Amino acid sequence: MLTTVSSGSAALGTSATVPAVSAPTRLRLPDLLNTTDRAADAVLSGRYDRLLRDLPEDERWYTRLDGNDELDVWLISWVPDRSTELHDHGGSLGALTVVSGALTETRWDGEALRHRRLSAGSQAAFPLGWVHDVVRAPGPVIGPTLSVHAYSPPLTAMSYYEVTQQNTLRRSRTELTDAPEG
Ligand SMILES: [Fe+2]
Repeated sequence: MLTTVSSGSAALGTSATVPAVSAPTRLRLPDLLNTTDRAADAVLSGRYDRLLRDLPEDERWYTRLDGNDELDVWLISWVPDRSTELHDHGGSLGALTVVSGALTETRWDGEALRHRRLSAGSQAAFPLGWVHDVVRAPGPVIGPTLSVHAYSPPLTAMSYYEVTQQNTLRRSRTELTDAPEG
């Protein structure tokens, strides 16, 4: 989508056309939601059963299902009590679809931490600046807890955050990485 922005004097007829981008990618959050939805269907259809045969029971596990210059897609297996940390996704947009089991997302909304449960079939989208933590939802489950995640551009860096005693968000560090936290 292009947005025309007028600048200077209209009488002079000066104007500039600038792209209305939210990230350095042509993809948008609905594209990523659609991508994770289709990948979740592929997981449920058994396409990746070979990868899921020997999932570790006490370690978070992930593998890249697809990737190119503008998008990468990950399958993550979640285990109990393996919190990530509050993090962003650097300059990438992101989305997830829960394949099986349930996740709990804790998100900083600018003033407080908000929690929501994402059960099988639920989706979530992460615009730029989205700071959250994702864990396996508490409670007994039958079978693995799986989710599919997509990022565009592919992840290259993430920052980590902590909530201060003044109830503000403090960025504690930034790491170069191409592996998802969730
Ligand atoms: Fe995340």
